[in-house]
Amino acid sequence: MQREKWGSKIGIILAVAGSAVGLGNFLRFPTKAVLNGGGAFMIPYFIAFILLGIPLMWVEWTLGRYGGRFGHGTAPGVFNSIKKNKVIKYFGVLGLLTPFLILIYYMYIESWTLAYAFYSFKGELFESTTQESMRTFLNNYQGIGPEAGISTALIFFTITFFTNFFFIYRGLQGGIEKLSRIGMPILLIIAVILAIRVLTLGTPNPEVPEQSVTNALGFFWNPDFGSLLNAKVWFEAAGQIFFTLSVGMGMIITYASYLSDKDDIAASGLASCSINEFCEVILGGSIIVPAAFIFYGAVESLSIAQTGTFNVGFVTMPLIFEKMPAGFLFAGLWFILLFIAGITSSVSMIQPMMSFLEDEFNISRKKATVILGIISFSACLPTILFLQYGFLDELDFWSGTFFVILFATVEIFIFLFALGIKKGWEEMHIGALIKIPKIFKFIITYITPVYLILLLGFWAYQELIPEIMMYNDPDINKPYIWGARFMILLFFAVSLLLIYIALKNNKAKEVEK
Ligand code: ALA
Repeated sequence: MQREKWGSKIGIILAVAGSAVGLGNFLRFPTKAVLNGGGAFMIPYFIAFILLGIPLMWVEWTLGRYGGRFGHGTAPGVFNSIKKNKVIKYFGVLGLLTPFLILIYYMYIESWTLAYAFYSFKGELFESTTQESMRTFLNNYQGIGPEAGISTALIFFTITFFTNFFFIYRGLQGGIEKLSRIGMPILLIIAVILAIRVLTLGTPNPEVPEQSVTNALGFFWNPDFGSLLNAKVWFEAAGQIFFTLSVGMGMIITYASYLSDKDDIAASGLASCSINEFCEVILGGSIIVPAAFIFYGAVESLSIAQTGTFNVGFVTMPLIFEKMPAGFLFAGLWFILLFIAGITSSVSMIQPMMSFLEDEFNISRKKATVILGIISFSACLPTILFLQYGFLDELDFWSGTFFVILFATVEIFIFLFALGIKKGWEEMHIGALIKIPKIFKFIITYITPVYLILLLGFWAYQELIPEIMMYNDPDINKPYIWGARFMILLFFAVSLLLIYIALKNNKAKEVEK
């Protein structure tokens, strides 16, 4: 079967940027930054960006394009084409499984943003005027509480689900690329409008002149250097870099596998990273936290941030918009922004499994869409129904945090030892519009792997055991947590089996095209 190709250079940059710019930029980043030392968070954040994010981004683009040359679009096939070895393909399992597991909960959160955009424009959201009533509104929507039902959430989820799979069905150029080419500029425009709105709020409450825009920016950016001594801040910063750039997830490998040797990956990788950082640090940093500070002050903003990312985005933000003239419009725009950010990321989470079915099993796109659609819709249901029992958080812990760091470590070792840094570096420069500074060869060879091993080791020591044993939350609902773990293990086993079947007899594919 002929593999698809991207339509244009700008299309691929926007598609990768679309994958990167997501809910993480506008919700996760500002909350993490405020909770981990404000301006001082940016130090470990940018260190992780340079030493982990950018190198891994280039490594993934390189591995992806390399594998695509042999007709493979996902990590198992890509690794298999790098080295003739019976086990190497199994190391790619996380490149297949992680995006799928993240998709299962990510798409659900994305559907909340669609519902909230609807409720904003309809005016229903603004009937709740206190933190408590707004939280009840959210809980009712999520099916939590005695009077809550889940049917509305299911309807919005179904719409979101079909929209995602519609773009997937349309394919790379007609679906994902088109979505990114249209969605990303709209996203940028909305984010700029919202940032300007927040930064021109002045001092809306004259009785508390200290709650001004200038102080709000100071609140976000003033460094608390003491926080740098805390190992957790470094983990959080690195975790945010992985999540926001979509590295360690396997998605970039798949997108890059549709490139040809004429395509540049050095400058394109850098361009998509830069778009992401602009959206995250400049725009993401100028919306929710400054707005919360201006209306609630420093102490309350911090405690709001402590209640979690969702509370900030879905409870506090609507209340803030309520206080502005034409607030419903800005609230609607805010949720549309999140929806576009979400969908351009979630389609990239579906594509690896799609490529796997198409490339390794020769299944047509139409059939693969239906198969994957049925499986992922069913897999999403427990997340929706058991949200209150920590099902979503459990999936997020394993796939959104642990697997991502683990898989990034696997990738860098495959790149260094299976492909080899010399060949890898040459591959990275085929068709390149820029020459990557030599220092990055050193970073990729020595710094990134050591950084990853340290991160993985310390993180496993500090977080993994308490998480496995469920020490952190004594009230946790264990049967549901075990249910989530069982689901992860089940998909893990199925993925391994599929890799075995797919790559058992694919000798013909090993010939370079
Ligand atoms: N990179 C995507 C985000 O930030 C997953 O949401």
